[in-house]
Amino acid sequence: MALLVVPNTRFHHSFISAVTEFGDARMDGAGSVNGAELTALADEEAFERLVISLVRDQQEDAPRAASFVPATSLWMVNDDELVGFLQVRHRLTPFLLEQGGHIGYSVRPSERRQGYASAALTESLGVAAGLGIEQVLLVCDEENIGSRTVIERAGGVYEDSRAGKRRYWIPTGYPNNSQLFH
Ligand SMILES: CC(C)(COP(=O)(O)OP(=O)(O)OC[C@H]1O[C@@H](n2cnc3c(N)ncnc32)[C@H](O)[C@@H]1OP(=O)(O)O)[C@@H](O)C(=O)NCCC(=O)NCCS
Repeated sequence: MALLVVPNTRFHHSFISAVTEFGDARMDGAGSVNGAELTALADEEAFERLVISLVRDQQEDAPRAASFVPATSLWMVNDDELVGFLQVRHRLTPFLLEQGGHIGYSVRPSERRQGYASAALTESLGVAAGLGIEQVLLVCDEENIGSRTVIERAGGVYEDSRAGKRRYWIPTGYPNNSQLFH
């Protein structure tokens, strides 16, 4: 079964518990999800607005900050419970080329070390291929052993380190591996 799904309001309950678990920690790949707005997001309508804006962000003409690019936000799920976040940015900006990369992800703390990030990263390569990206850039902090292992196991080819970040490239398999999410 596919691990990555398009954000959907049916994950409201596990979304709230996942974001609560992150606390103040960064939620890489969560897009505009902001733990500081957790109380407001308990409201079903506010959550629906968030889901709509996340899904819409893959469109070129969606509203966003000038320095941001369109991105496909996906949620990692298991047994219909949200276990993590992943985002594929559609192209690189100067900042993403140095510090962010094409793909960001995070797994909720209680669900780590079960292979979710590895499986999600592999699956997301098809998403990137579907966007016409031939190779994706992945970036992690030098000391982020978990993410570094995930990237290297997925076939990441180390290019260099810049400002404390390790930079890797992974071929997506484009055009054969293309996978579309709606
Ligand atoms: C990094 C992160 C995404 C890994 O998610 P995960 O689902 O636990 O990763 P996986 O289970 O696929 O891990 C694959 C391998 O990486 C290594 N690994 C993962 N987390 C590790 C950790 N904290 N310390 C050491 N090795 C780790 C292990 O070798 C693991 O395989 P194993 O459990 O069979 O030994 C998760 O720890 C996280 O969300 N961290 C905070 C956000 C973040 O750093 N995101 C990445 C930004 S670049």
